[in-house]
Amino acid sequence: MNAHIATLRAYTKLAAVIPVVTIEDARQSIDLAQALVEAGLPVIEITLRTPAALDAIAAIAKAVPNAVVAAGTVLHKSQIAEVIDAGAKFIVTPGTPTRLAEDLAEASIPVMPGCATVSEALSLAAMGFEILKFFPAAASGGAAWLKSVRGPLPAVSFCPTGGIDLQTAPTYLSLPNVICVGGTWVTPMDALRAGDFARIGTLAAGAARLSAQS
Ligand code: 3PG
Repeated sequence: MNAHIATLRAYTKLAAVIPVVTIEDARQSIDLAQALVEAGLPVIEITLRTPAALDAIAAIAKAVPNAVVAAGTVLHKSQIAEVIDAGAKFIVTPGTPTRLAEDLAEASIPVMPGCATVSEALSLAAMGFEILKFFPAAASGGAAWLKSVRGPLPAVSFCPTGGIDLQTAPTYLSLPNVICVGGTWVTPMDALRAGDFARIGTLAAGAARLSAQS
C-alpha cells in the first residue's frame, strides 16, 4: 500500500487539476488526451459511465505515453481487473462501500477511493488509503468541510471533485490537505461531441495554470 500511495501522490502532483471525462466515442480519446497533455494536464480520469470507457483507457494508455490515465466510477470488483487490463494507472471511485474498499486494497495499482463523510474518510484511512477523492465536494460541504477535517485527519490528502470549476478551484487548492482537484469543466460534453479539441486545449491551459499549495 505504501508504494501505491507514493506513486499516487506523485501522479496527483503532476497537475493541480484532474479532468474528469465521460467519453462516448473511444476514437476521440487519443486526440483528447494529447490536447490535455499538451496543455499541461497529463492526469486524466476516464469514468466507466459509457460503453466506450474501457477502449478509451486502453487507447490512451497505449498511444499517449505522457498521459497518466485513471479509471473513474469504478463500482464493482469485476471492474478492477478490467481497468488494470486496459492499462489504467490508477483507480478512482465516487464512493467506497466496505466490500469494494476491501477489494480495492488488494489491487495491483494505486487507488483513490471516494468519500463524502468523516466516518468514510476515517474507515478508508484506517485501511491505508491516504489520498481520497472528496465527492461530491461542493454538495457535501466544500472547502469548509475540508478545513474542518484537517484536525481529526491530519495525514489524509484530498482531491475534491464535484461542482468545482475554474473560479472555485483556487479556494480548494489553497487548503493544505488538498493535493489536487477534479472536474468536468475542462472537457464539456458539447466540446467533446463536436470534437472541439482546440476549445478543450484552451480550457485545459487555464486549469493548468492553477497550482496546489500542498
Ligand atoms: C465526478 O465523477 O468526479 C463528477 O462527475 C464531477 O463532475 P463535475 O465536475 O461536473 O461536478
